[in-house]
Amino acid sequence: MRIREATGADWPAIWPIVEAVVRAGDTYTYPRDLDETFGQTLWMQSSPGVTLVAVDDDGRVVGTAKLGPNQMGPGSHVANASFMVAAEARGRGVGRALGEAVLARAREDGYRAMQFNAVVEANKAAVALWTALGFEVIGTAPEAFDHPREGLVGLHIMYRGL
Ligand SMILES: CC(C)(COP(=O)(O)OP(=O)(O)OC[C@H]1O[C@@H](n2cnc3c(N)ncnc32)[C@H](O)[C@@H]1OP(=O)(O)O)[C@@H](O)C(=O)NCCC(=O)NCCS
Repeated sequence: MRIREATGADWPAIWPIVEAVVRAGDTYTYPRDLDETFGQTLWMQSSPGVTLVAVDDDGRVVGTAKLGPNQMGPGSHVANASFMVAAEARGRGVGRALGEAVLARAREDGYRAMQFNAVVEANKAAVALWTALGFEVIGTAPEAFDHPREGLVGLHIMYRGL
């Protein structure tokens, strides 16, 4: 597997991953009926942001991440990032590799810290992965996410210095 910057030509391979995650509606605060055009606007970053893809040995895009400033202006030295791995490729280290690549890229780009604003408390895989990568839950907005199976659950803010 290789992780590289995404180009516009990768979007047709990225969209099915994004689409499946938003339709499932259990991990992101994106509209569950998000259309492809809005999905592309949200996911494909332009400078100073960057979108990455994880590509397997057969050249298939199996995961993607985006990185950019969490806030504008005086808040722009803290990064934000988002991650999605194709359902059939999960549990094999793609998410961890993307997480490590994004942390390395954020350091290179001069960010001082990284913050995730809305990690669904019930998303055990994500909370475990971000904790393993050095993030801490610094607060939880109670009942802020309407989970399709678990009802109202918290949204964690997770943070780490770089
Ligand atoms: C969260 C996500 C990116 C993880 O990607 P992945 O490729 O499955 O993760 P990895 O195989 O690299 O697993 C890394 C770690 O995650 C944790 N993890 C992964 N799947 C898990 C599961 N089902 N239950 C608990 N922990 C799990 C483990 O701590 C694992 O540690 P290890 O490396 O010591 O085995 C992926 O599940 C995904 O895309 N989910 C849908 C979208 C999403 O939730 N994005 C993140 C929003 S904050």
